[in-house]
Amino acid sequence: MGLFRKYVNQTRKPEGFLGKMMISGMNGGHSALADWGMTHLEINAPSDIAELGCGGGRNTGELLKIYPSSKVTALDYSDLSVEKTREYNKEMISAGRCRVVQGNVAELPFEDNSFDLSTAFETVYFWPGIEHCFSEVCRVLKPGGTFLICNESDGTDETGLKFEKIIDGMKCYTEEQIEKALLTAGFAEVRSYHHPKKAWITVTAKK
Ligand SMILES: C[S@@+](CC[C@H](N)C(=O)[O-])C[C@H]1O[C@@H](n2cnc3c(N)ncnc32)[C@H](O)[C@@H]1O
Repeated sequence: MGLFRKYVNQTRKPEGFLGKMMISGMNGGHSALADWGMTHLEINAPSDIAELGCGGGRNTGELLKIYPSSKVTALDYSDLSVEKTREYNKEMISAGRCRVVQGNVAELPFEDNSFDLSTAFETVYFWPGIEHCFSEVCRVLKPGGTFLICNESDGTDETGLKFEKIIDGMKCYTEEQIEKALLTAGFAEVRSYHHPKKAWITVTAKK
């Protein structure tokens, strides 16, 4: 595997030296997308938020700013992502508003009906079976809770499809595929938003 391919494969589960380099770039590299995605949040003052596939932890920090009375649980299955998210949000962790948990979205280590809001930025491409993982998200959301998914690829753009070919296990989904999987997983009120100029998509749904 060439170096470029090895490097971009770190987006799936950052590990080792290349993973550290990838994580350092993720927070800045995804901020405009994540900020656009968050403009579609219609929920007011959720008490408990789960930020899934948290990467470098920047979006965890933004959610803590947008919702100053909320607690955020960030989750990722990569050691490096957990470490970086803890470092990025250390003040909020000390203040008791943030915790960072290592785990897989396919088997969320949370009780049923625990969260008012779950978010997933640039991560569902790598989830092992989106219908099953979405049903896990549905399980841990409270009735009426919101799930927000935000992707840089709309499943048809050239860049997304190029990365899909070189990143192991990556799948770029269309809005329709995400909507269908959400409905199958038990969600309702599914809404999709497409950026007017880019291939960015946000999909929201309610339990
Ligand atoms: C491309 S990064 C995006 C990170 C961050 N959300 C962002 O927007 O910058 C994808 C992250 O999802 C995590 N991830 C992928 N599949 C996962 C799974 N099944 N369970 C938990 N985390 C997962 C990876 O470890 C990685 O940190």
